[in-house]
Amino acid sequence: MSDKKAFLECDGCEGKIELAVHSGSVGPDSVDITRLYAEAGLFTFDPGFLSTASCSSAITYIDGDKGILRYRGYPIEQLAAKSTFLEVAHLLMYGELPKVDQLDEFTDMVMHHTMINQSLQRFFQGFHYDAHPMAMMVGVVGSLSGFYHDSINMRDDAHRHLAAFRLIAKMPTIAAAAYKHNVGEPVVYPRNDLSYVGNLLRMMFSRPCEEYIVDPLAERAMDLLFILHADHEQNASTSSVRLVGSSGANPFACIAAGVASLWGPAHGGANEAVLDMLEEIGDASQIDKYIDKAKDRNDPFRLMGFGHRVYKNYDPRAKIIREVCLQVLEKLADSNNPLFELARRLEERALHDDYFLERGLYPNVDFYSGIIYRALGIPESMFTVMFAIARTAGWVSHWLEMLDDPKHRIGRPRQLYVGADRRDYLPIDQRA
Ligand code: SDX
Repeated sequence: MSDKKAFLECDGCEGKIELAVHSGSVGPDSVDITRLYAEAGLFTFDPGFLSTASCSSAITYIDGDKGILRYRGYPIEQLAAKSTFLEVAHLLMYGELPKVDQLDEFTDMVMHHTMINQSLQRFFQGFHYDAHPMAMMVGVVGSLSGFYHDSINMRDDAHRHLAAFRLIAKMPTIAAAAYKHNVGEPVVYPRNDLSYVGNLLRMMFSRPCEEYIVDPLAERAMDLLFILHADHEQNASTSSVRLVGSSGANPFACIAAGVASLWGPAHGGANEAVLDMLEEIGDASQIDKYIDKAKDRNDPFRLMGFGHRVYKNYDPRAKIIREVCLQVLEKLADSNNPLFELARRLEERALHDDYFLERGLYPNVDFYSGIIYRALGIPESMFTVMFAIARTAGWVSHWLEMLDDPKHRIGRPRQLYVGADRRDYLPIDQRA
């Protein structure tokens, strides 16, 4: 932390209020307001946390103006080109790229926790066949704490890491079981000799009546998408995991909270909403009409997959995903995929429109990912589930980082109260 200072003067306060300023290893300084209320009787007001650092973290760094994203200092472009999802999960959790033996051990730990308790299979029977798979994810992930009592003691580091491995390992199994419930097919058990993503694809798409061979193209494309979705600093779902975890809640409840937050269309649910939007637009002749709707303050329509709280330039992940999209479609002999062409035309039209340029609204991670998922045979309802599987690596890493911080405390924001002042109770016969 630096010895820089900030000074606040305000009406009604005596003299200047001195505040410490903290400098990180890179990025903006932060004014420390921890003592502001105690010393000056003032709160700060920042709904949506546009200017608020909720914690210090060494996991992910984003520069929204320069379109920079780094996991533990490594540029996302290099990790996307050279790494694998489980190697990135190790990097996020432990802070370093693993050596060969460390990656083998990490992979072994994950791939030997892929089963879920047989009783959990009955949970899916309780859902209507067409329940949204994210509803099943929220319910079943939260219920894991009812099964794994040997990994919910938050004061025990071994418990914490075992829970983290269990969550990374079981998310694909739970996701595939939710999908099988939707399609009315029998659950397929995990195979630990397959890759992390290969196992997920097989649990989703194999059937008892025929052998299923994992398509290497789909396996590599999905693994790359999982790398790109693994973490993203203090986004809404990660902040939800941290806030729930700050009360000492068990890790399964924390990750269920992350899944619930991610589901929103303004967050991880946007990848599914992009496909719905493209299908509603239909063809390029309608693009101008929908661009006008997106710009109309009185119209609730938003260009899904566009805009970002942090990136006011191109989301680096969107650039990579767009290239992968092209490669996947070309290899699937589907290079004139109408949805992709429509998305490209829509992007091009928006990025020549002052409304979007003035507000720094560019494609984000969700704009093209759904097109790839669909091309790989993943149904729309499962797009955000894919996001949740990948983001679990980031969620558990932030949860572990928070619990490893001896100074961490329960998160309890205050408010600007704008309700009624004190008033006395009126018997019902005296109310106007
Ligand atoms: C993710 O935070 C993360 O890191 C998230 C994420 C991650 O990896 O965890 O990156 C994943 O959630 C990506 C975002 C996916 N969501 C969408 O694609 C939904 C569409 N986008 C918008 O809802 C919006 O851009 C948000 C929610 C992403 C960001 O919202 P902000 O930062 O609160 O921005 P805002 O709503 O205040 O918008 C600023 C202006 C407004 O106009 P004015 O009031 O200035 O006139 O831009 C406009 C908004 O109306 N605007 C849009 C728009 N997004 C913002 N107008 C049309 N279409 C859009 N998509």
